[in-house]
Amino acid sequence: MSNPPEKTLKKRFTTEIVKPTARNIALCTDEILRSGVVAFPTETVYGLGANALDEKAVGRIFKIKGRPTDNPLIVHTHDFSLVKEFAASIPSIAKDLFAKFSPGPLTLILRKKKCVPDITTADLPSVAVRIPSHTTALTFLKACGVPLSAPSANRSGTPSPTTAQHVYDDLNGRLPFILDGGKCEIGLESTVLDIRGKTPKILRLGGLSLEDLSKAIGTVDLAPSSIGEGETPLSPGMKYKHYAPKAKVVFSSYHERMHNGITEAYDKAKTEGKNPVILCLDAHKELYGAREKILMGKDYATYAKAMFSALRDADKSGYNLIIAEGVAPHGIGTAVIARMLKASDGTVI
Ligand code: TXA
Ligand code: MG
Repeated sequence: MSNPPEKTLKKRFTTEIVKPTARNIALCTDEILRSGVVAFPTETVYGLGANALDEKAVGRIFKIKGRPTDNPLIVHTHDFSLVKEFAASIPSIAKDLFAKFSPGPLTLILRKKKCVPDITTADLPSVAVRIPSHTTALTFLKACGVPLSAPSANRSGTPSPTTAQHVYDDLNGRLPFILDGGKCEIGLESTVLDIRGKTPKILRLGGLSLEDLSKAIGTVDLAPSSIGEGETPLSPGMKYKHYAPKAKVVFSSYHERMHNGITEAYDKAKTEGKNPVILCLDAHKELYGAREKILMGKDYATYAKAMFSALRDADKSGYNLIIAEGVAPHGIGTAVIARMLKASDGTVI
């Protein structure tokens, strides 16, 4: 791991949250074409964008985020026909997947072309490619006319940002513009899929479920690191502690009577003088009586959408222990579990 950039980056911008009007898109585009960095919304989480083909610009992303330089970035484009500009080959399975799931929360690992600088891919021979579906992302990418490298627009290690305000809270003073596209619809990152081997392999679970992928292409493997296991992750980003708020996080395993363990943990924390909060689905709120809670909506899709926000809100409200309900391991639930295991550093009840 290299680059502890935090100390070297001088605070030098007045950061503005701007609506995606034609004028503001033009301002942000100018910034990108001057090797600058602009945060923009996608349907998954906010991205911290820079010209993926411009070494200097990409270097800025790593500095602003405080991101280890061995963690490669996803290259975003608005149009499938442009993928061939930076991928050395596009196998037919990739064409099929792009046709079926893009624009959307799918990132494919392809062999890269030389024009993609090594800094973008952390020296890997591959490049991660995604076509986001958020209208503002598509408009902005089109206006820029260059592919944008964009990691999630948070400081490394904190919960990913799902509103412009989250980006501001983390990165104020480090970039000039945050394009405001409202709340991200999915709320957790894209699914990263490596299709270079015999059997396609998920490197990171995300907004597109394993079930949907399997329906489309048959057997799909799951890299151990995508579910928080294994020693050497194939997707380098998976090895770092992620998504952690300041409060300690405890994640419940999923079963019918999980509320018993959760209330027990809550009450114990109270007697120890802690300030706990429970993250639960709306339908379960009665189970926890008068205990403090943050409601996660009606189903796993709303849980996923609210998750990163809830972790940030808990910190803002001064809770120092977050006890989160478990979810069943199917659909987007699996991606929620993978993130909660990271946020909790594996502390499960
Ligand atoms: O939804 C998303 O994917 C968001 C939005 C902004 O598009 N972006 C995002 O980027 O989550 P980031 O940098 O936070 O996560 C990218 C993940 C990391 O785990 C990284 O290691 C992996 O993708 N990755 C990128 N390029 C790769 C490559 N060539 N091979 C394997 N893994 C790669
Ligand atoms: Mg990230």
